Amino acid sequence: MPDTLKISMQGIVKRFGGVVALDSVDFELRPGEVMALVGDNGAGKSTLVKTLAGAHTPDEGVMKLNGERVRFTSPQDAWNRGVATIFQELALAGKMTIADNIFLGREVTRKVAGIAFLDRRAMRRRSKELLKELDVVVPDIHTWVEHLSGGQRQGVAIARALNIDADVIVMDEPTAALAVAEVRKVLEFIKTLRRQGKSVVLISHNVQDVFEVSDRITVLRRGRRIGLLETDKTTPEEVVGYITGAAETKSRRAVAQETPA
Ligand SMILES: Nc1ncnc2c1ncn2[C@@H]1O[C@H](COP(=O)(O)OP(=O)(O)OP(=O)(O)O)[C@@H](O)[C@H]1O
Ligand SMILES: [Mg+2]
Repeated sequence: MPDTLKISMQGIVKRFGGVVALDSVDFELRPGEVMALVGDNGAGKSTLVKTLAGAHTPDEGVMKLNGERVRFTSPQDAWNRGVATIFQELALAGKMTIADNIFLGREVTRKVAGIAFLDRRAMRRRSKELLKELDVVVPDIHTWVEHLSGGQRQGVAIARALNIDADVIVMDEPTAALAVAEVRKVLEFIKTLRRQGKSVVLISHNVQDVFEVSDRITVLRRGRRIGLLETDKTTPEEVVGYITGAAETKSRRAVAQETPA
């Protein structure tokens, strides 16, 4: 018996007016795996993860979490069920400290004489622990997030997901705007998450990064899933072939040739 899938999406359709952004897409994520999600611009990657995250409601299709049917009504709802999505815009508050960001929306309070106060010390302590776990180096836990580098911000966003004990972490192009050293760091974060037994969805345009960290690769093209590949059984050339449609045309031609007239 295979393990229950962490996430399964079946026949997901999402339309925006006349545009069919997702055309009956299936997607799955196993416990403890890193699934890369690749495809050309406009292929439907962000739409798929926004649907997974509860930011979009699908027009059709079924979604399951740990084998049970779910429908998330908002990203917050998904977070509460352990599915944390780090959108490309990160949704961090620039003019707040690192610790305040990590605890945004779930502040720790302590009561003194029946009155609730924010327990800033506890939040700072836990934030430091989380950043240490991820090996994120920041100048000072009191630093405003707007003063951090792109890679450090990505680290804070991931620490926030860890803090709510998410076991599915979805990242939409976390390395797109980063310098080489920071990309390394984010790839290391992803490996750390997998070591901790988390499931990760990574959207990336960088095929080399995808090969470095992923277990499997889902390829979307024009709103359809056209490939689900085991990373160690494929090659960057083959993946690029799927992304551009060359592999699809080739396999269709192969099928056509096999079919008797
Ligand atoms: N809110 C929206 N309203 C209308 N159309 C949308 C909306 N969001 C996405 N689309 C359309 O759906 C299609 C898929 O877009 P999506 O953002 O999911 O692509 P993507 O694979 O993430 O691309 P990229 O690599 O450029 O980020 C595109 O044609 C896009 O224009
Ligand atoms: Mg996108």
